[in-house]
Amino acid sequence: MASKLKLFWMLPVSFLLLSNCLHNGANAAPQVPCYFIFGDSLSDNGNNNNLKTLAKVNYLPYGIDFPEGPTGRFSNDRNMQDVIVEYLGFQNYMPPFARAQGRSILKGVNYASGSAGIRDESGKQLGDRIPLNEQLKNHKIIISRIRQILRNDTSTRKLLNQCIYSIQIGSNDYINNYFVPEFYNTSRQYTPEQYAAVLVEQYSHQIKVLYGHGARKFALYGIGLIGCTPYAISVYGTNGSPCVDKLNTNATLFNERLMPLVKELNTNLTDAKFTYLNPSPSPQDVLSFVTNSTCCEVGGGGGELCVRNSKPCSDRSRFVFWDAVHPTDAWNELLAESAYRTNSTSEAHPFNIQTLAKLK
Ligand SMILES: *[C@@H]1O[C@H](CO)[C@@H](O)[C@H](O)[C@H]1NC(C)=O
Ligand SMILES: *[C@@H]1O[C@H](CO)[C@@H](O)[C@H](O)[C@H]1NC(C)=O
Ligand SMILES: *[C@@H]1O[C@H](CO)[C@@H](O)[C@H](O)[C@H]1NC(C)=O
Ligand SMILES: *[C@@H]1O[C@H](CO)[C@@H](O)[C@H](O)[C@H]1NC(C)=O
Ligand SMILES: *[C@@H]1O[C@H](CO)[C@@H](O)[C@H](O)[C@H]1NC(C)=O
Ligand SMILES: *[C@@H]1O[C@H](CO)[C@@H](O)[C@H](O)[C@H]1NC(C)=O
Repeated sequence: MASKLKLFWMLPVSFLLLSNCLHNGANAAPQVPCYFIFGDSLSDNGNNNNLKTLAKVNYLPYGIDFPEGPTGRFSNDRNMQDVIVEYLGFQNYMPPFARAQGRSILKGVNYASGSAGIRDESGKQLGDRIPLNEQLKNHKIIISRIRQILRNDTSTRKLLNQCIYSIQIGSNDYINNYFVPEFYNTSRQYTPEQYAAVLVEQYSHQIKVLYGHGARKFALYGIGLIGCTPYAISVYGTNGSPCVDKLNTNATLFNERLMPLVKELNTNLTDAKFTYLNPSPSPQDVLSFVTNSTCCEVGGGGGELCVRNSKPCSDRSRFVFWDAVHPTDAWNELLAESAYRTNSTSEAHPFNIQTLAKLK
């Protein structure tokens, strides 16, 4: 599994036993029986590898620090969801839907796909992808396989009710749709306010479809600072600001509608729990990172990905950005830690993931 857990297994047995008593060690049961992941390249762990698309990264230097090498994760090592899976106490990462087999699916599956969006067309200028609607259909396929394994509708439903369902999506509806007018009409059809409303309306339906499939614990992520990526800055320029303000302010319009949606869903669907997450490491943490350049040499994919077989920076743990869009393992670790245990209501509301896991 993780580089960390591998190290863990190499320690002497006596220490291992002690560790298991002191910490929630690798042999303890996970805090929820299962974890399902929906989303885009921030969460993808190999679903795009066999698609015809520029948005895939099953080549070095991606995965240079990951025990299995390049897997399709958009990082030098783990993505944020991998780290959360570790925090929840699972012994293995969730298999990508594209390769998920056997009983492993009882613990969860990762459906995320690079360049995918809430809207079906988002990301299409890069090639094939699995939009959220399609990810939901893939989840239905997995549910029927779970039912076959358990041979019992009651226990299938009971299991699905206890899992956490993580969805981090929406960035591509902006950076690979609304803000690419050469390929998409949305910016001519909708004002920024209308577009945020249309997106969140569609998202609300998709969340309810998942609820209809038995999901009762939802971790819903806001869109991060898409205007601060080296890619956005190089394409749009900043006009003297540190970031591309129009991207960040439009993402904020989306987040400002997602937050009240989460509140409404908690009110209306009382047998389910929803939480809004938007982890952001502290300014102190940021200070010790390089924020204004990428670790790898970019130019692959649509111009935002690492060049195949290029040599990345050696001090990867000091960089926020691995390529021109996606964070390093080190930054993902900080984001995951915050999503898992922050008490800040701007980063997790009304629950962090640790609390969401405990709720009955
Ligand atoms: C299904 O599982 C439940 C417990 O979850 C049990 O009470 C029930 O008898 C099982 N049904 C069948 C048909 O095995
Ligand atoms: C965009 O709008 C033009 C004119 O209305 C239309 O011809 C074209 O098919 C649209 N393109 C897309 C991708 O929807
Ligand atoms: C959103 O993007 C548009 C450009 O499409 C820009 O004019 C506007 O200032 C941005 N921000 C908001 C809050 O509308
Ligand atoms: C919640 O219920 C109210 C009242 O029935 C309804 O107007 C609203 O659309 C519902 N919200 C959601 C997100 O389903
Ligand atoms: C990044 O920021 C550092 C510290 O502010 C500065 O010394 C360096 O020149 C910057 N690099 C680039 C590529 O802008
Ligand atoms: C959050 O609050 C809980 C309960 O008050 C406390 O135990 C925990 O240490 C806090 N977490 C952080 C990261 O401050």
